[in-house]
Amino acid sequence: MATTTLTTLAEFEKAARQKTSEFAWSYVSRPGKDGQTHTDNRQAFKRYRLIPRNLRDVYIRDTSVTILGTKLDFPIAIAPTATHRLLHPDAESATARGAASMNTAMVLSSWSEHSLEKVAAAAPRGVRWFYLLFYRDRGRMKRLLVRAERAGYTAIVLTADQPFFTFSFRKVPSTLPMPLWFPNIYLEDVPPGALGSLELADYFKKTIKEAATWEDVEWVRKNTRLPVVLKGILSVEDAKMAVRLGIDAVLVSNHGGRQLDGGPATIDVLTNIVRAVGGEAEVYLDGGVRTGTDVLKALALGARCVFIGRPALWGLACNGAEGVQQVLQILKDELNLTMARSGCAKISDIQPSLVVHESYYL
Ligand code: FNR
Repeated sequence: MATTTLTTLAEFEKAARQKTSEFAWSYVSRPGKDGQTHTDNRQAFKRYRLIPRNLRDVYIRDTSVTILGTKLDFPIAIAPTATHRLLHPDAESATARGAASMNTAMVLSSWSEHSLEKVAAAAPRGVRWFYLLFYRDRGRMKRLLVRAERAGYTAIVLTADQPFFTFSFRKVPSTLPMPLWFPNIYLEDVPPGALGSLELADYFKKTIKEAATWEDVEWVRKNTRLPVVLKGILSVEDAKMAVRLGIDAVLVSNHGGRQLDGGPATIDVLTNIVRAVGGEAEVYLDGGVRTGTDVLKALALGARCVFIGRPALWGLACNGAEGVQQVLQILKDELNLTMARSGCAKISDIQPSLVVHESYYL
C-alpha cells in the first residue's frame, strides 16, 4: 500500500482497518467494556487549550530529549503491545526497525512473537526496553531479566494495571486464524500452533502471576541492574509508593482503556502525579496520543516523554517498518510545528503556563 499519501494518524487508522483481518482489528482496537476510558483518553486532550507565546525566536527548533539517560530525537516512543504478527509478517522486528530509524525507543512486550533476542538483532542500534510479565515462578523472571540485559535492553517495564489475564478479543475463537507463538513466555516447550486458544489461555493462567503486588515490583527492582519503569499508574498514592521503592520512572497509563473501564483519562491525572513524584522519578504518559498537539500538552503538564500504542500498530499494518517510521515522523513533524506556533524552540520551553483546561473559561 502506498502510505506516502497518508498525512495524519487518523488516515493511518482508516487505512490499517481496511488492510487488517476482522480478527486482528478486533484485537487491536478493542477497548475495555463500554469503552468509556478509551474514548475519554482522546476527548480529554481536547479539553486543554494552548496559550501560545508569540514573537519568540523559534526559527530553529530542537525536539530532542533524554529519558533514563538515553537521548532520543523527540519525546515520542512506542508502548508495549502484543502479537505484532497479526498485523505484519515481520512482526516486532519491523516495529523495532521503524523506531530505530527515527532514533526513538520501543518497549518490547513479553507477548511478542519474535523473541527478544531476534528483535534486538533486527535493530541493533535501537533503544529498546523490555516489558516483563509477572510470573508465578521467580526463576523464570530471573532468566528473562538476564536475557533482556544480555540482549541490550536498557530498562525493564512492569505493568501494574493488568490483574487477571484475559484474551483481548471480542470473542475468543475456539481455533485461532493463525498459530500464536510467544517465545518470551517460554512456549519453547510447546510447538507453535500446538495449542488452541482455550488451551493457550489455560497455559498462561498456570504460568503468569495473575494478581501481582508491590512485593513483586520490589523483587524485580532488586533483581536487575537495569532501571525499572512502572506502567499503569493513575493514583497519587501509587506514584508515591513507586518512588519509595526506588522506581526510576512511572508511566501514567490506563492501558489504552483496555483494562479497568471507568477510570480517568491519563492526561487528567498527569499533573497530580508529576507533583506527587516531585522529580524523584521520570514521568511519562500514554493513552490517546494522536497528534503533535497532544504531545505538547502532555509535555506542558509535566510528562518527559509520551508513548503510543495503537498508532504504531496502524503504521505496521499499513507498511511494516516504513509505516511505523511514517507514523512517528508525522507525530514528530506535528510536534515540531506546534512548538513553533506556541513559542517553544526546545523541549524545556514547554511549560505548564502554555496549557489551560477548558473549565478555566466557565
Ligand atoms: C496494549 N497494551 C499493552 N500494555 C502492556 O503493558 N503490555 C502489553 O502486552 C500490552 N499489549 C497491548 C496490545 C494492544 C493491541 C494494545 C492496543 C495495547 C497497552 C499499551 O502499552 C498502551 O498502554 C496503550 O496502547 C496506549 O494507548 P493508545 O496509544 O493505544 O491509545
